[in-house]
Formats: sequence, structure tokens, C-alpha cells
Amino acid sequence: MKYGYFDDKNKEYVVERPDTPASWTNYLGDTNYGAIITNNAGGYSFYKSAAQGRFTRLRFNSVPMDQAGRYLYFHDKDSKDFWSASWQPVGKSLEQFKTECRHGTAYTKISSEYKDIASEVSYFVPRGKAYEAWMVKLTNKGKETRNLRAFPFVEYACNWNAGDDLGNLQYTQYIANMSVVDGIIDHGSNINMPEMPEDFQQKDQQRHTFFAMVGAEVSGYDTDRDVFIGRYNGYGNPDVVQKGECAGSLAEGGNPCGVLQTDICLQPGESVEFAIVMGIGSAQKEGAEVKEKYADLSILKNELEELKNYWHSRLEVMQVETPDADVNSMLNVWSPYNCQITYAWSRAASLVYAGVRDGLGYRDSVQDMLGVMHSVPEEAGERLELLITGQASTGGAMPVVKPFAHKPGQEKEPEANEYRSDDCLWLFNAIPEYVNETGNFDFYLKELPYADKGKDSVLGHLRRAIEFNLERSGAHGIPCGLAADWNDCLVLGYEGESVFVAFQLRYALAKYSEVSEKLGLTKEVEWAEQELRILDKSLEEHCWDEDRYVRAFSDKGFRFGAKENEEGNIFMNPQVWAVISGHANREKAEKAMNVVHDDLYTDYGIMLCAPPFEKSDFDIVRAVLFNPGMKENAGIFNHTQGWGVMAESMLGNGNRAYKYYKSYLPAAYNDMAEVREIEPYVYAQSTHSVYSKRFGSSRLPWLSGTATWAYYAATRYLLGIRPEIDGLTVDPCVPDSWEGFKVVRNFRGAVYNISVSNPNRVMKGIACLKMNGEIIEGNKLPVGEEGKEYQVEVIMG
Ligand code: GLC
Repeated sequence: MKYGYFDDKNKEYVVERPDTPASWTNYLGDTNYGAIITNNAGGYSFYKSAAQGRFTRLRFNSVPMDQAGRYLYFHDKDSKDFWSASWQPVGKSLEQFKTECRHGTAYTKISSEYKDIASEVSYFVPRGKAYEAWMVKLTNKGKETRNLRAFPFVEYACNWNAGDDLGNLQYTQYIANMSVVDGIIDHGSNINMPEMPEDFQQKDQQRHTFFAMVGAEVSGYDTDRDVFIGRYNGYGNPDVVQKGECAGSLAEGGNPCGVLQTDICLQPGESVEFAIVMGIGSAQKEGAEVKEKYADLSILKNELEELKNYWHSRLEVMQVETPDADVNSMLNVWSPYNCQITYAWSRAASLVYAGVRDGLGYRDSVQDMLGVMHSVPEEAGERLELLITGQASTGGAMPVVKPFAHKPGQEKEPEANEYRSDDCLWLFNAIPEYVNETGNFDFYLKELPYADKGKDSVLGHLRRAIEFNLERSGAHGIPCGLAADWNDCLVLGYEGESVFVAFQLRYALAKYSEVSEKLGLTKEVEWAEQELRILDKSLEEHCWDEDRYVRAFSDKGFRFGAKENEEGNIFMNPQVWAVISGHANREKAEKAMNVVHDDLYTDYGIMLCAPPFEKSDFDIVRAVLFNPGMKENAGIFNHTQGWGVMAESMLGNGNRAYKYYKSYLPAAYNDMAEVREIEPYVYAQSTHSVYSKRFGSSRLPWLSGTATWAYYAATRYLLGIRPEIDGLTVDPCVPDSWEGFKVVRNFRGAVYNISVSNPNRVMKGIACLKMNGEIIEGNKLPVGEEGKEYQVEVIMG
């Protein structure tokens, strides 16, 4: 079943049926002011942090779903009928209520028509501003004059701390203090306390947000939610909207809301436009400024256009044209957009991440960098530096870095039992990628502080990361798992060993050696190569089991992923990373990848491990707490799928790489949205596997490692366009059914128009490469001149 379609030209996904199987969401704003909006205008807004800066309320996982939100109600003064501009919350019959929702790049537009009144509401955060706008256009499409009242509504949190707001009611029910200044609502909390702008994490401080209407006269207001909704009513039938009259309530304690009232008389064919602006600051100051600024609504309209242009230019850094329309929709818009959102919000703000996790989880955020280096290299560089300063002088990382509170050099060193074994090893993916994208090789020499004390060059930081794992290796010469390796559900014990991390470490040593060689640091090269040989030997001797690599050794002697095991006898991670790290020889690589194909691949993607854990003890594998086939318990864990695509591409198996890529491509499920359930334009953390009765249902959209690796694998390995320090490598690995594809890639300011043809229908290999008509030996395009365009012809064969 289909609920919408991709409008590639406008870079939008259009939801045509509002009764989607799950809330289909979008993100507005940036890391300063963020917001989430669903296809039914549900969602919430936050300042700097969804956990500590949440000032509007959403009841997560509730009934009905995704309420409250940014609602705009209408009341017809003559018929007394009422409805909302989005289908929900009033939920008129879909026979009479026609609606579509266009989710675009950081804006959402909901257009509806009910009884001859057409409404369009565009929601967005003007670039760089700490407020959001709901731009409204109303048109009377009928033959009668219509006397309407509109009521924009938002439900506020009492305290910006999301946990306290919903849980600590004995405190937060006594702190709201609402006022209205010149028709602008002031939402105050703890107003007797001082403001403490320098201490964002202090929740017991005075805070204000404003709610203003521009382009329309305010004829009433309410700020007390209970007055607005009325007893035993819901968002679908608020008292005030039913009656068509605000009560002028001012909440003191209890539950505040923002409601304004405006009267609209529309002649047949007539339209009116107005806007609601809500944001950080007081009604008196910031609210008044905004109201004045947007007295001319065309300013706001221009800001929406600016926002679109800004986002589109970020996406246009790489555009593709392949024979597969689903792949094009994803790679040109949604996949890189998903990467940007994940990079911005880590795992802290969605309809699933409800405000418990805050800041940047180390391992996740370092991986997230890979998806945005090409589109926002400067911003990415700053973030990378922030994360590098989250590494402690021991070489291990702080589990979480909070951008709004991080103090490099002054942070407490993490406790020994807090260290995860994989955290800093992801820097070996992210840092070279940054350097290759920007050409800034000197970055390796830049001095940066450690989180707790001391400082080092970036290369020094990388060395400390390697040393950290080498110093913490176990009985088989394999790095210890510590608090966790990438998989949060394996119980290795602190001294247990992670074969997956061993492959990461191998990758790290190889990269370190490569970079040191370029810097002329012979001793460093020798050191890394020697450690690499020792590690390879341990991997050979202890980790290969007939046709697969085992996953880990627990400190109690249990071998995860060993062939003889009844449960979890094959894990995906070590097989694919044996290839990615360059450890596995061809024969072993093929064997291991064949087991992945035969035992783990399903129509919806590759399972993380199999068979699921059902009888195993919880103190061996925590995944046993999930139902079989879900998440880390033999679910299709999508974070890892890109690695499968990369490994098969590296082996030259374009057919398999593409099959793997397609199996979890969101757009490929647009016509069976009732199975996948979540947004067909977004990646998700996991899909239930064959071991579950809900095979194919996906969970946890937007914020997971999936977005990054899916994009990375497709662009760098399937299409094979890889930035390197001295040029742009072209190394496609495609299905043999493809006759070719095109890519426009902006690399360090030069634009490459790459046209690949595949006359002999091969999967990999280049027979001829030409740039501006001249033959190039090998498969690397030289670095072009900034501002210039280059025509590149590639013939595979
Ligand atoms: C979640 C976590 C990530 C972890 C993965 C596997 O996605 O955010 O850090 O690597 O699960 O357990």
C-alpha cells in the first residue's frame, strides 16, 4: 500500500494519505533551534538540546499518536463547525477533508481543503534564527462569504528539562507564569529566578519563549491548557474551538499553552495570509522584534526560499542519475538529508529518542561525520575537532560529548569501566575522510587538547587511540571489549576480547601507517606495520573458524559466533570487517561473505546474527531480552548493512552489493508502506527479521548509523566516487544489468560531470577514463581548479 510519492524535482516527499501506519516525520531548524514535525503537524520544539531545552510538549508513544503539535484550528461562526489545518487532531472524515503533506528539506507544508476553505501552512525555522514560523494562507474556494476564526495552538512544557516536565510534577506544575504583552504570549518558567545564560544545563533558572501572530489582528488569547481544552475533551475538540471564543486565561502554575485568536472574513475566491512565529526570548523583547520584522510577510516568504536554496545547495554537492529511480530519489535528496539530520541531532531528538539521551554519543557521532564531509566540510571540521577533544589522554573516549557544555582539557577522565573499545577507532574513518575531502593534510599536525589534560597533534591523538586498544588486549592478542564494543548487547566482560574491534584496529594501523608514510615518519610506519603483522597473526590463529570469523571471546571463555554454537553461530560484523580492514585473503573473504549471504541475508536486509538468542543466559548476551528477530537479537540491524555493500563491492560482486543495498533502501518500500510502516524516505535503526512475526517492519527512523553508512557505501563503493588526498577516485562496482550512470560531484570547488557507461555489462573495472577528452591512466581524477567544470567519461570493462 502506498501513502505518498517522491517529488524529486522539488526535493520533497508528498504524503497523500494522512492515516500513515506510523507518524512520518521531518526536522526543522538546526542545532541551535530544532523542531520535529509529523505529517499531521504533531511534534515538539527545543533550544540547543531536546533533553534540556525542550519548551513544547509531546506525549511520546501515546494514544492518539504524535500529540500535541503545532495546530491551527478553524471555527466557522455561522455553521459552528470546526476543523484543523492538518487532518489531526480534529480528524474530519477523509471523504470531506482533502489533504497533502509535503516534507521538504527542513520545512514542511501541509495543504488541506475542507468545505471550500483551502489552507496551506508552511512550517520552518528561518536560517540561523532561534524561532520558527508557521506561514498560513487561507482561501475561500466556495460561493458564499465565510466568517471564520482561526486559533493557532501549542502546548508548552513547564520546565525546559524534558524529564522533569513530564515526570517531576510536584515541582514543574508550580513554575509556569504566563502573560500577554501587546498580543504576544510570553511563556515564562521559574520567573523569580535569575537567568543564567552561561549555564545552559541549570534547569532552575528563568526562561521565556514567545508566541506571536503577524499579518493578522489578535482578537483573543488563552494560555491555560485546561481552559482551552476543557474538561474531558481532547486536542480533537477543545472547548474554545467548539465555542469559537477564547477565554483570555492566564496560566499560573499548571499547564500552559499558547493560543491566539483571529477573525477572518473571506469573500468567495478571496485569500488571506498571516503567520505565527514562536521562539526563544520574551514577548516584550524578542517577540516584539519579530513582530515588527515580519510586519511585511514577504520577508518571511523570502526566508523560506533562502532556506530551501541553502539546503538544496548542500545536496547538490553530489547528484546522480542511475537506472534505478528509487536509488536516485534517495541519493539525491533523502539519503544525504538523513545524514545531515543524524549528524545534527545524534541520537537525542526524535519521536523515539524522547529526551533521555543528550549530547553526542561518541562512537555514533564520529561515524555520523562520514555522511556530511562533502556537503558541509567546514562545519564538519569544527565538529571533528570537538569530538577529537572528547578523547581522554588515555586514548579512550568520553562516552558522550555535549557541545553546549564541553570544556576540553577540563573534563573528568572517564572511569575505567566507562570506556568502550570501539569509540576512538572510528576516528580512523572520519579523520582521513575529512582530510581527503578538504585536501587539508596539515590537519594531522594540528594540536588539539585531550578531554582531561594535555594535548597532541591530531596524528598523536590517533596514535593514542591505537595504543589504548593495544594496551588493553587479552589472552588471544585481540583487543578487549571493555564496557562494550560496537554491539551494546554482547557481554564480553571487561577482559573479554572483540574480534570486530580487532578488525577496526587493523584498519586503524593500516591508515596510521599510510598517513605516517606521507608525512615521512618512517619510525611510525615501522611501528604500525609491525603491530599490524602481530595482530594479523592473532586473527589468523584464533579467530577463523572453518568458513567464518568468530565475533568475540568472553572473559568466561565463550566464543561468540563460533560455528558449533546453537545460537548466534554467525555474526555479520566480523565477516564484513575482515574484508573492509584488508585482513582476509580472497579465499577467506569469499567464504565468510558466502556464509553471510546464505545464513544472514533476507529480502529486507542482512541479519546481525543468527539464530537468535532464546536460551542463552542474560549474562552472556543481553540481546536475549529482545524478541527473536528484533534489534541486536538476530534483527536486521541496518547500521551494518552499508558494510555488507562495501565488502561485496571491494570483492567486485556488484550484483550482490546492489542486492544488499536495495534490500533496505527505504524508497524501495514506498508501495508496501503497510509492511515497513515508517517513513519510506528515511533509514531506520532496524527491521524485524525472519525470526519475527513482524518480518519487514522497521523501527527507529532517522537517527541511527544506518543513514551514514548507507550513503557512504552507495556513493563511495557502488558508484565508487571516492575523494583521496590527491584526486577523486572513480571505482564503480555496479550490477551487470546497469548500462551506466551519471554523477555530478563537487570536489574542493571543482565540478566533475562524470558519465559512466558499461557496454560490456561488467560489475567492476575501468577500461578507459577521460577527463576533458584526455586519457587518464589509472582511475584517479586529478584535483581540479576551483570554479571549473570537468567532463569525465568512464567506460567500464
Ligand atoms: C545503537 C547505538 C550504537 C550501537 C548500536 C549497536 O544504534 O546507538 O551506539 O553501536 O546500537 O548496539
